[in-house]
Amino acid sequence: MQLVYGQEQLIIQTDQTTLVFTIGKDKKLYQSYLGARLNPADYAKIKDIRHEAYHPAGTDNLFEPAIQVLQADGNPSLDLRYQKHDVQQVDGHQQTIIELRDPQYPVKVNLILKAFPKESIITSSVTIENEGKKPVVLKQYASSMLHLDAPNYWLTQFHGDWAAEMRMDEVPLNSGIKIIDSKLGARADMYQSPVFYVAEDKPASETTGKVLAGTLAWTGNFRFAFEVDNHNSLRIISGINNYNSEWPLAAGEQFNTPAFIFTFSDQGKGQASRNLHDWARNYAVLDGKEPRLTLLNNWEATGMKFDQQKLVHLFDNGVTLGVDLFLLDDGWFGRKYPRDNDHTSLGDWQEDPKKLPDGLGYLAKAATDKGIKFGVWLEPEMVSPKSELYEKHPDWILKLPNRDEHYYRNQLVLDLTNPKVQDFVYDVVDKTLSIDQHIAYVKWDCNRMMTNTYSPYLKHEQSKVAVAYVQGLYKVLDRLRQKYPHLPMMLCSGGGGRTDYGGLKYFTEFWPSDNTDGLERIFIQWGYSNFFPANTIAAHITSWGKQPLKFRTDVAMMGKLGYDIEVGHMNEQELAFSKLAVATYKQLSPIIWQGDLYRLLNPYEQPQAALMYVAKQKNEAVVFQFDWNTERRNKPAYPVLLQGLDAKKQYRVEEVNLMPDSKSRVDEHGGAYSGDYLMKVGLHFNGQHYASSVVKISTGEGTTK
Ligand code: GLA
Repeated sequence: MQLVYGQEQLIIQTDQTTLVFTIGKDKKLYQSYLGARLNPADYAKIKDIRHEAYHPAGTDNLFEPAIQVLQADGNPSLDLRYQKHDVQQVDGHQQTIIELRDPQYPVKVNLILKAFPKESIITSSVTIENEGKKPVVLKQYASSMLHLDAPNYWLTQFHGDWAAEMRMDEVPLNSGIKIIDSKLGARADMYQSPVFYVAEDKPASETTGKVLAGTLAWTGNFRFAFEVDNHNSLRIISGINNYNSEWPLAAGEQFNTPAFIFTFSDQGKGQASRNLHDWARNYAVLDGKEPRLTLLNNWEATGMKFDQQKLVHLFDNGVTLGVDLFLLDDGWFGRKYPRDNDHTSLGDWQEDPKKLPDGLGYLAKAATDKGIKFGVWLEPEMVSPKSELYEKHPDWILKLPNRDEHYYRNQLVLDLTNPKVQDFVYDVVDKTLSIDQHIAYVKWDCNRMMTNTYSPYLKHEQSKVAVAYVQGLYKVLDRLRQKYPHLPMMLCSGGGGRTDYGGLKYFTEFWPSDNTDGLERIFIQWGYSNFFPANTIAAHITSWGKQPLKFRTDVAMMGKLGYDIEVGHMNEQELAFSKLAVATYKQLSPIIWQGDLYRLLNPYEQPQAALMYVAKQKNEAVVFQFDWNTERRNKPAYPVLLQGLDAKKQYRVEEVNLMPDSKSRVDEHGGAYSGDYLMKVGLHFNGQHYASSVVKISTGEGTTK
């Protein structure tokens, strides 16, 4: 076979990565290279045109397509040819827009690639425009198609369930197709998370191997397809799940896909994570560079059983601990139907006069008077069958007209495709915040997925529901962020049912899991840390788990620390420790939130875990070490080799966050070690069952306040 080479190339480049497109003589766009950064002098040698970059269905495509369009005349094909491209520098990144058109039909497709050089992140999204006079149907509309060529591929996926989020599994990708997706609509990430790694050749470790990390910025149904073809090439197609989601595109209309975010590292998963963290803090997460609030939540301590007096008493506990905010959870609302259990009241967002006779305003002021901020839980997209909202607006609810209602956690989902419902949801949050200016934080929950779904608003266009729902949610959040640009908000979804960068644009943090067992949290947080920075991962100390309080506290310190525990049940020693822990965390959190993460010991490999955060200037670091080994006689504890330090610098080593009167587990050697020593010889931790340590490493030129 004679290949026809084109000459024109488009280069998308970051500090670590190069993506090369070639425009063929047939004017099709081909992906010719994706991998570690190349020397510009070598671009011209790359002329591979085996892989069409954004391969459409219906013409010569033989495998999973990126896009499928049903034309107005019933023709089921799309043919995309290069027209032009445009490169611009925008806000820290280089944006390349590549325009493709069908020579026969008035369909225009723009591929939008943004390259963030310093963070080595590329994002890919697509706009599809119907320039004709009749409607077409989008049957598939990926955000990105990428091609890899290697002898072997290894996929790391993250999956789970309620209280079991982010289980990590690594599998080889062989001939055929593997799909990771969500069809849940809302609480979309409950079973599968929209994140993955693909390693080339062999599984990547934390420090070695070629690996691509990817995630979709979409708070709804997603789909990643990994297909290995007859030549052992891998194509990765990422975007909104087209399952049951055909999108009719009227004449003159445009459809914008969400961004697929990816990074390529030839130094293993750790580097890929650090790239994502830097990018997230700089560009993707609301106020990613700003400090977060430590808090005391009442959910685990009281459930829905509380009253005003009890809450005011709990404020004192927050003050004693020294946290910034008190977060009032579920159970404060419902007049006709008080929210005493999870069967009623969602939708009726007025204070329950029995529990809170003086309302949220009184509580917010009382908290402020005691020197602690006040925040509130809302689940504004949901409705209970037993609620005034349900009685007044049965047509605002997603449910099939001719079948039994199907509940999950005894509730239904509101029809956010309907602009009136969007206004209602906006008002719920706005009115709650307007009760008192001292309401300083919102926990936004979403406790069910969609089932038996039918939108009374969309009528004959039911295939739009899942996508239009998320668009509706974003409209509400856009409006709220205009009025409240910096109010800290936690994205929660019955634990970690919503963990994506589409949502985090509007939120400062997310709730990873209702499972706060200290040991299980190590695994859950380890999973999320692959894709999300520590300042977005809320981690609370509760009474889940049988590990000592010290262990649970050290685990929570690796994320955005909070408490959700009966402080009154702590003994004197535990309380003294916890007060000190909050103060210590406040000192260390700038390093944890903004530093570089190195995952040192993988809990999936031995009953031990270690992670460290290194300040950008390499003058300070914090090491977390955990040990739950019960069989020490068979397994010696090896020293933990640190990473990311300056080999030439001298560091002081000091174990912090100790229980009163307990001894350090590390040999501090009077404090002085070179970075070289710490990275080659490491630190030895005296092992014990459920032992844990927080170690501060510092040159003494510290900047930590
Ligand atoms: C969800 C959240 C919890 C709590 C409850 C309240 O399950 O994940 O943290 O807020 O709802 O009903």
